[in-house]
Amino acid sequence: LIDLEHCEFVRLHDQSDTSSFDCDDTDLNEFLLKDAKNYLKELLAVTYLLIHKDEIAGFFSLSNDALLDNGDRTIWNRLCRRIPNPKRKKIYPAVKVGRLGVHIKYQHGGFGTELMLFLKGWFTKNNKTGCRFILVDAYNKEKVLSYYRKNGFEFLLEKDKKDRTRVMYYDLKKFSIHSD
Ligand SMILES: CC(C)(COP(=O)(O)OP(=O)(O)OC[C@H]1O[C@@H](n2cnc3c(N)ncnc32)[C@H](O)[C@@H]1OP(=O)(O)O)[C@@H](O)C(=O)NCCC(=O)NCCS
Repeated sequence: LIDLEHCEFVRLHDQSDTSSFDCDDTDLNEFLLKDAKNYLKELLAVTYLLIHKDEIAGFFSLSNDALLDNGDRTIWNRLCRRIPNPKRKKIYPAVKVGRLGVHIKYQHGGFGTELMLFLKGWFTKNNKTGCRFILVDAYNKEKVLSYYRKNGFEFLLEKDKKDRTRVMYYDLKKFSIHSD
């Protein structure tokens, strides 16, 4: 088992060696190996690595995003109820976790949860811009959905129930209240 305290936190750069990573998901492994640097160059996503003993223990990629009214009344009304009336809009500032993975040998040990706690803190305490929600397109697999649910994420849509991925959101206000 490892924790974040024992990891070095590194922003992916041109010389980063990402070959050691394996989270047991081919798409995510390939993204880190082949694509993450291109996303960085194009200013489309920034990837961060958690390094433990010269090996990547986990990573995530972030992009600016927005949470839009999706037409699903029940879910949207529930979400808006948390926001004071005069501040309610049809669009809210958000950050998108485009990819996220934990090395297979560190999975099920709470490391993914620590990563998520770190992210929640990062986008609430002294954040440079207003950011109310974290968004993720979660793989529609029970293991992944239960990871996000346990970390406080909720479904944004009903209609993506059978899709490959499901949109989930986390309201950062919940975190800022608990951590103030
Ligand atoms: C999803 C992932 C990031 C979770 O990281 P992790 O370090 O294993 O997560 P944690 O140990 O903090 O687990 C938290 C919860 O996730 C769920 N979970 C994690 N691994 C699971 C598994 N193999 N089976 C069932 N549930 C699992 C459980 O609900 C767990 O809660 P519990 O510890 O009370 O049982 C990691 O499994 C991973 O990298 N998977 C492959 C890549 C991937 O699917 N990424 C998500 C893309 S959307």
